[in-house]
Amino acid sequence: MGGPLNLELLHDFDPTLFERLVAFRRDLHEHPELSWDEHRTADRVCEYLSDLGIGYQRDVAGTGIVAEIPGPAGSPVVALRADMDALPIIEETGLPYKSGKNGVMHACGHDGHTSMLLGAASLLVQEASLPATVRLIFQPAEETGEGAKAMISAGAIDGVSIIFGGHVDRHFTVGSIAVTDGPVNASSDRFSIHITGKGGHAARPHETVDAVVVGSLMVMSLQTIVSREVNPAHPSVVTIGRFDAGTASNVIAGQAELEGSIRAQDQDVRLSLHRSVKRMAESIAQLHGAAVEVDITMGTPVVKNLPMPTSIARQAAETVIAQDQIVQLEIANMGGEDFGYYMERVPGCYVRFGTAVDGVEQFPAHSSRFDFDERAIAVGAAYFAAAAKTAGEDLRIRNVHDSESATC
Ligand code: NI
Repeated sequence: MGGPLNLELLHDFDPTLFERLVAFRRDLHEHPELSWDEHRTADRVCEYLSDLGIGYQRDVAGTGIVAEIPGPAGSPVVALRADMDALPIIEETGLPYKSGKNGVMHACGHDGHTSMLLGAASLLVQEASLPATVRLIFQPAEETGEGAKAMISAGAIDGVSIIFGGHVDRHFTVGSIAVTDGPVNASSDRFSIHITGKGGHAARPHETVDAVVVGSLMVMSLQTIVSREVNPAHPSVVTIGRFDAGTASNVIAGQAELEGSIRAQDQDVRLSLHRSVKRMAESIAQLHGAAVEVDITMGTPVVKNLPMPTSIARQAAETVIAQDQIVQLEIANMGGEDFGYYMERVPGCYVRFGTAVDGVEQFPAHSSRFDFDERAIAVGAAYFAAAAKTAGEDLRIRNVHDSESATC
């Protein structure tokens, strides 16, 4: 997908840079690497940064890279983040630059995100002066939900005042950016329920505690948490994705294991879902004389755009695309995204870059046929550069105000 850059999408974007970014993206696409294994990808990113004369630190939290384009001495720091990892999927796109690694595929557009951020770097180094220091974070392992946390522990956002990120999205037309106030990704937690009953002969159920029956009741009851216990105005999900029990048709299972996913857009709702899963599982086990163990693993937090950074993101988008191309998420997105870990520490805004084209079938992210319109790379690059400048200017003005009011 892609084709020549339609300059109407953007007020102004260097076609030579666009070509370079597309070539860069296709190279990453052909050489995808799984979470924590982004070695070649990191090499390519470092080469690109070196070529621009941008200083960087590599091997941050494994395969991560943190680069900086300095602003005036002592200026605040604006961070821009891209993820770099691919997924364990056998690619079926048939693209000329399709994955050369069987079973590994850039099926979520992170090759595009990395290219966008390098595009932003190319644009920012051309500036005579920047209002603030711009930190570029190339993060590993977003798909496992671990990379952001590791980068934070390694100091990637130390001293950062504000952070911006984004994702390609087939629900919006290429050339558009969805800038949304409030939650844009759900929290994503995992649970497992291990049931211990008493196995036995299929002909003598009275001598057993049937773990299949106990597990089945749990599956049905857990459906009522979202429908009966959560305020319908708060989007939430409890999904059981795995039910494992039994060995033969004439044997009553003594053990069963359920695994599932809990999603919410509100921290209180998230915690109440955890309590409900635990309560129901334990009550049903007790009701039937089985033992149960419930484990809930906290995953990525809610990604919630705050008003100030969202307003900066909107202003930045306005400098890049037409007003009517700035859209909003209308429906809650229950997908997870580890960008929320950064936003637990610093204010930020996470946007969506439209990739849909009329008449072209769009396959969802994580599909073996996923692809995106490469013009979104130019949009993303221009947006990230504009966000860094707009946020830097905003921080500079705030700093002047703060120091003025301090002297009053
Ligand atoms: Ni993704």
